[in-house]
Amino acid sequence: MKHLKLFIGYLIILVTLVERSLVSAFPPQSIPQESSTKSHSTINFYGIYLSAHQFLLRHNIVNGTGKPVSQVLDEFFGTDRDSQTNFYLNILKITDHQNIVQKELAGFAHYHVNGEQILTAHNYVRSLRKSLIDLAESGADIDILRERVGQCLYTLQQFYSNTNWVDLHGDTIIKEFGISATLPVSISNLSDEPCSDCPTDSTSLQSGLCKNNTRTTKLTSGYKSKQDVSKPPSNNQGIGKCSHGSQDDTSRLKSATGGIYKGRSSSAHAPHFYLHNEAFEAAKLATVYFLSDESKKLCCKCR
Ligand SMILES: *[C@@H]1O[C@H](CO)[C@@H](O)[C@H](O)[C@H]1NC(C)=O
Ligand SMILES: *[C@@H]1O[C@H](CO)[C@@H](O)[C@H](O)[C@H]1NC(C)=O
Ligand SMILES: *[C@@H]1O[C@H](CO)[C@@H](O)[C@H](O)[C@H]1NC(C)=O
Repeated sequence: MKHLKLFIGYLIILVTLVERSLVSAFPPQSIPQESSTKSHSTINFYGIYLSAHQFLLRHNIVNGTGKPVSQVLDEFFGTDRDSQTNFYLNILKITDHQNIVQKELAGFAHYHVNGEQILTAHNYVRSLRKSLIDLAESGADIDILRERVGQCLYTLQQFYSNTNWVDLHGDTIIKEFGISATLPVSISNLSDEPCSDCPTDSTSLQSGLCKNNTRTTKLTSGYKSKQDVSKPPSNNQGIGKCSHGSQDDTSRLKSATGGIYKGRSSSAHAPHFYLHNEAFEAAKLATVYFLSDESKKLCCKCR
């Protein structure tokens, strides 16, 4: 029980800390036949695990000198199996809240950072994060906090699956996304045509024919059919707005054909499948950063 309280304290403190400074998505859960595809659940597991580790070290709760991450967490939980179980249950519940967004808000592009809604998504996560902090400070119920954390992390992680950030910057993160007032990058405007046509069949994708279909250094995201923002018609032969490009996205058949989605590791499901691992790494690092952004100023208030 002591550790559950600590975990709640951890969640509350970490959001407070963050404040002071600071499907076609990844699939919700692992896919049995596709073991190299990383899900939101995997990203959360690593992301929350690692940010808990940072939290324990930063607050000198465990002496981590020369110890691997798992040992630090084991020492923290000690022989208290219940608290360890609770820790993992919290991660699962946060993931459940992400799955709800993924299913129930499937038709709205900005939750998934599709359809050139990068700024809208950024501002949405910022406002969610503010409300999370307010709720935490007012001592709200843990379930509401978990819901807000799940909603923030869903869109934050989608950014790396559905935009061309990873195409441009590999597995680095954009620390400002969902946190700062402005984003330090240029974003495609309405008239930009950031993609060129590429094939949509799995065989061509597998042989790399869709590897070089972005033609911009600006940040952009793909349109997906059946969402509230429709893909604009192309104005020039062979180029146009990018599509998301998953199998259920018919916009991938309109110029610019193909897509940039990297939430799965298989060419049958994601045109940029070859960037899946980098997208996973970036989403994981962004999760850790979002949950444990450190600024010296913060501590004072929480203690
Ligand atoms: C932490 O552990 C290391 C290695 O065991 C030890 O040298 C160090 O003195 C410890 N630090 C504290 C603050 O106990
Ligand atoms: C969009 O950006 C391009 C440069 O990439 C610029 O030439 C064009 O004028 C911009 N269009 C609008 C509508 O802002
Ligand atoms: C990718 O396409 C651009 C033109 O759109 C070309 O300049 C570049 O050389 C291509 N790169 C590769 C690796 O094919």
